[in-house]
Amino acid sequence: MISNVISKSVAGISPSATEGTSFMANKLKREGIDIISFAQGEPDFDTPDNIKKAAIAAIKAGFTKYTDVPGIPELRKAVAEKFKRENGIEYEPSQILICNGGKQALYEVFRTICEEGDQVLIPAPCYVSYAEQIKLAGAEPVFFKTKEENNFRPNFEEVEANFTPKIKAFLLNSPNNPTGSIIEKEQLKKIATFLVERGVYIITDEVYEHLIYDDRKHISVASLGEKEKEMSITVNSLSKTYAMTGWRVGYAAGPKGIIKAMNNLQGHATGNINSIAQKAAIEALNGSQESVRIMVKEYGKRREYMVNRLNGIEGIKCNYPDGAFYTFTNVIALYGKEYDGNIIRSDVDVAKFFLNKAHVAVVPGVAFNYSGYVRFVFAKSMEVIKEGLDRVEKAIKELK
Ligand SMILES: Cc1ncc(COP(=O)(O)O)c(C=O)c1O
Repeated sequence: MISNVISKSVAGISPSATEGTSFMANKLKREGIDIISFAQGEPDFDTPDNIKKAAIAAIKAGFTKYTDVPGIPELRKAVAEKFKRENGIEYEPSQILICNGGKQALYEVFRTICEEGDQVLIPAPCYVSYAEQIKLAGAEPVFFKTKEENNFRPNFEEVEANFTPKIKAFLLNSPNNPTGSIIEKEQLKKIATFLVERGVYIITDEVYEHLIYDDRKHISVASLGEKEKEMSITVNSLSKTYAMTGWRVGYAAGPKGIIKAMNNLQGHATGNINSIAQKAAIEALNGSQESVRIMVKEYGKRREYMVNRLNGIEGIKCNYPDGAFYTFTNVIALYGKEYDGNIIRSDVDVAKFFLNKAHVAVVPGVAFNYSGYVRFVFAKSMEVIKEGLDRVEKAIKELK
């Protein structure tokens, strides 16, 4: 029996809640149906040319062998300089570990600092992999719900009200996936002070730090002061900023002892990340940032359009994201409505309805631990967004 073979920890992982929708979307695609997907959280832009050229040069130069597990010294130095330049944080290269995307960095953080009996406090909605990664580390994810009327921004009162002595770490993701919300500086300071006083680590996932609109500013927890820096582990990635999702370059920075332990773990799990991608990452961080500015400007226009269109459709209501490329849309008013004999009763049903009747794929809120909503991605061309939202609007009008 296969079920007896699977370890308890892996058997305990839920399949990704996004899988159901992707599976159905792919099935329809194979049947020749033109599906517009607002489901995949990745840039539609190509990786900038200067970065690709650096990778090609690395291949030509034969830079194709194992490297140091935590990354080549030039890349760790480039990341340390980036932290100083952009975030105002002084990290030594030895405090930086280059990982296979932000995802591996997060996994290694949980695996390194958490164990059975520990809890990790997370504001919901949140990124799909946190809970399962924390469970794999033997710890327990504990969620509290941020409020739609606060634009899903977490605040101090919520952290205080949900605090327990078992909490080992607090997980912050600003800008947030799936809402795009950015935590207010005052709240961040209050939360950080409260946690640091209680010896709680702050794991800060900053992968969307550059995708910010309306002149808002990203603030790294570790830049708030020495104590905050000692108690935080910053996770970041080149995936979203530089349209490099497939290259798998992310990193973690934090106290030396933690980074060293994570390095030991990585050394036995995957070793170094791809050598060629490391050379490309140096160019991404040190080279011209013009392509990032162009992409962010374009995302900003698409955000404007998508938010206005979604809020113009009766029965749905979306938030105004401060950053990232997501809108989190309230679909509760569609519950109880009917199409082809099906009654909509949940956000999963809404996602199915959009897929079957509008041929549009979105991710239901339950995947982010927050039901009643669906996530739309606006990292798509304006034409695709327009066509997709026309279809959604038409399908909703036809509901009974
Ligand atoms: C909030 C958040 N963190 C981390 C990641 C991981 O990204 P990557 O592993 O490509 O760096 C993602 C990807 O969607 C994300 O949305």
